[in-house]
Amino acid sequence: MNQSAKFWDKIAERYSKRPVTDEAAYQKKLQITRQYLHPDAQVLEFACGTGSAAIAHAPYVKHIHAIDFSPKMIEIAKDKADQENIRNITFGCSTIEEFNLPDQSLDLILGLNILHLLDNKEEVIAKAYKLLKPGGIFISSTACLGDFMKLFKIIAPIGKFFRLMPLVRVFTAGELETSMTNAGFEIDHKWQPGKNKALFLVLKKAK
Ligand SMILES: C[S@@+](CC[C@H](N)C(=O)[O-])C[C@H]1O[C@@H](n2cnc3c(N)ncnc32)[C@H](O)[C@@H]1O
Repeated sequence: MNQSAKFWDKIAERYSKRPVTDEAAYQKKLQITRQYLHPDAQVLEFACGTGSAAIAHAPYVKHIHAIDFSPKMIEIAKDKADQENIRNITFGCSTIEEFNLPDQSLDLILGLNILHLLDNKEEVIAKAYKLLKPGGIFISSTACLGDFMKLFKIIAPIGKFFRLMPLVRVFTAGELETSMTNAGFEIDHKWQPGKNKALFLVLKKAK
């Protein structure tokens, strides 16, 4: 397990008990996402954490692959799904990079609160594009720290060095949108619940 995976594994139990910081925004994101779901949909959620989003959407789709590189996060997610009797999620302990499915096999991909934690977000966005069927949807929610915490660029590596923080990348909302359009996505829906809040994007692969 690499250092970032160890970090998330260590805090998984605490993460699962943390209340949602903005319940209204969380519910609205679930509701917007639901408009793009259908009973035949094949879905992937990468970096699913303790599985809350996958579990919430599972009744509205055919199948969800939900992956995370932290074994503890996946263990908690599996327990939660079992408790709710959800049977159409396959949980897997995997990095985004190592996880593979055939190209153009998915209707929808979720990447929530993750792109700013990756060293290689452009690669991951390109991978999402490849995995989606034509017309498929990629939904992301991302902290764009470059819009309000430019100094974080300096603080983040120090926090990571002392193992107080995971890897965190700093970019603006505009830069993220450019990464998405450069990868070939069209922005179908864009919402930011408030200034400096995570940017919620619904991205469409051309038909
Ligand atoms: C901030 S949490 C978000 C969890 C969940 N998506 C949510 O919105 O609650 C970030 C998650 O990404 C996972 N993660 C980070 N980098 C990853 C990678 N390269 N591959 C797979 N999972 C990763 C961590 O283990 C953690 O569960």
